[in-house]
Parts: sequence; C-alpha cells; structure tokens
Amino acid sequence: NWQMKDFINDQIEKIRTEVGNKKVLLGLSGGVDSSVVAVLLHKAIGRQLTCIFVDHGLLRKNEAKLVMESLAGKFGLNIIKVDAQKRFLDKLEGISEPEQKRKIIGKEFIETFNDEAKKLDGIDFLAQGTLYTDVIESGTDTAQTIKSHHNVGGLPKEMHFKLIEPLRTLFKDEARKLGEEMQMPHALVWRQPFPGPGLAIRILGEITEEKLAVVRDSDAILRDEIAKAGLEDSVWQYFTILTGLRSVGVMGDGRTYDWTIAIRAITSVDGMTADFAKLPWDLLGKISERIVNEVGHINRVVYDITSKPPATIEWE
Ligand code: XMP
Repeated sequence: NWQMKDFINDQIEKIRTEVGNKKVLLGLSGGVDSSVVAVLLHKAIGRQLTCIFVDHGLLRKNEAKLVMESLAGKFGLNIIKVDAQKRFLDKLEGISEPEQKRKIIGKEFIETFNDEAKKLDGIDFLAQGTLYTDVIESGTDTAQTIKSHHNVGGLPKEMHFKLIEPLRTLFKDEARKLGEEMQMPHALVWRQPFPGPGLAIRILGEITEEKLAVVRDSDAILRDEIAKAGLEDSVWQYFTILTGLRSVGVMGDGRTYDWTIAIRAITSVDGMTADFAKLPWDLLGKISERIVNEVGHINRVVYDITSKPPATIEWE
C-alpha cells in the first residue's frame, strides 16, 4: 500500500523534525490507537520514546502479556509497565454503582500515570492516539484537549507537555491499516473495542478478585470459540458478564446454587446502535457447555438478545 508507506515516511520525518533530540511520553492502553502511535513513534525516534502502560488488573486474559510481548518484546519499545491491580481493587472495594466505578477507575488511572510520569526527567512531549473522529467529537481546539476517554487526562499543572498526535487525520480503519503496514500483530491491530474501565463494568455490583477471575475465564472461552468459528471479524464486540444472579441447578447428584453468566455479542458500525449477533445455536451451546465445565461457580449461561437501543452494549 503506497499511500500508507508515504504516510508513514512523512510522519516519521515530521516527528523527527519536531522532536529533535528531546524525549516523548506516551500512555499505552493496549488499545489500537495508542499501540499504533507507539510503534510509529518508535520507528521515528526509538528510545527517545518512553511508554507508560498502567495495568489496572481489569484487563482481559493475556491482554497485558500480549502488549508487553509484542510491543516491548518484538518491537523493542521502551515500556514501563505498572502493575496496579491492588491499588485499583482497594479503591473499588464495596463499590457497586456503575458510574461511581467509572469515576474511581478514571481518577486512579490518571493518578497512577502521573505518579510514574513524575519519576521521569526531561520529557518535553506527550504523544496521543487521537483519531480524526476524536478531533471532530471534541470540537474546538483539540491540540489543548487531552483525550479524556483514553484515560490520560489531567496531567499535573507543572508538567507542560507539547502534544504529538500523528493519527489526527486518520479514521480507525486507516489507523488499523497503518498498524498492518508496520507489521504489528493481527490480535493488536484488529482488537474489538474494550472499555477503559475494563472488566469492572462487566461484573454487576461489587468487584472481587474471585469474580474477576470468573469473568476473565469465561470471556477467554467465548473469545476462543468465536475465533475457532472464524467469526472474529464479523462480530463487532463480544464478551461475558457476571450477572449478580444466583440460581438453582443440578450437577451430578447434587443441587447447586450458583452464578449466572450472560453472553453479549453484537454487530454494529460505530457502537451507537447495535444488533445482537445471530450466533449459531451450536456455537452458543458449545460456549455454554465450556463455561459451565471450565469456570467454577457457574451453573447457568444466558444469551442477551436485546439490541441497542433500548439496551446498551455493556450492562453497566
Ligand atoms: P454502551 O454500553 O454505551 O457502549 O452501549 C458503547 C461502546 O462504548 C464502550 N464503552 C466504554 N468505553 N469507557 C470506554 O472507554 C467507558 O466507560 C465505556 N462504556 C462503554 C462499549 O464497550 C461499547 O463499545
């Protein structure tokens, strides 16, 4: 793809001219946009780029590992990984209201990022994976606006960074093409949308480590089966929810009284509206069977057949 090659070369040139021998900081979320920017910047300025990857412990199974193995490993990016699960879980203890969860996670994310950023010396630039759609959505002077839903907002006042946003003219599919052109792993480039608050909003009510393991393991089974069925690219977003519901079941000779997992899988163009995906019954049956057999404390699996509207995609 010649157009993409030109774009990459132009951007590399631009970044080098602008940055000179100075240092750049980037908040890595594991999502497509920040990963693509990271690799592009690395191509341009190598070790002058430092990435901070806050692992809030609410990521999917193997997600942090994928980011580290591919970006720090294969591409050799300089990434500071912050293992902050305990910090986040402590703050979330006893919290069950969805918006409160979001606020706590957002705030903690910024504070964790800032705590790390403060340890670094001589950073002049902050890079972000702002896309053209973000520029339009936030309206006015986006050069001064930190992309808040990317969780890297609210930097300390004493830190005066200049912003670098090389993807500002690109749409999501173009950012993905860019990633592919730079030989980034398919799993990183084509990942489905994943909310900043992560698995926290897929556990209805209070979050515990045990519940996190249940939602993470069931989600991994769902993803595995969707991949095996070759449906990764046709289903827009798919995940499991640990509902707060317990119900009666029977296993072997005994009666069980355990939790219910819901499966959500939708088709959509932009996430604004969505249809529940018409997954094959056999596939749903297989997923259900595996979740009950392989994940502890689950005796019932249900499929969410509501569209958006009236339901939202996430349950919280
Ligand atoms: P809803 O549930 O509102 O989701 O229909 C629409 C899309 O947005 C994602 N989503 C979020 N993303 N922070 C995010 O970064 C959030 O708090 C959040 N809530 C929902 C959701 O996964 C879906 O793709």
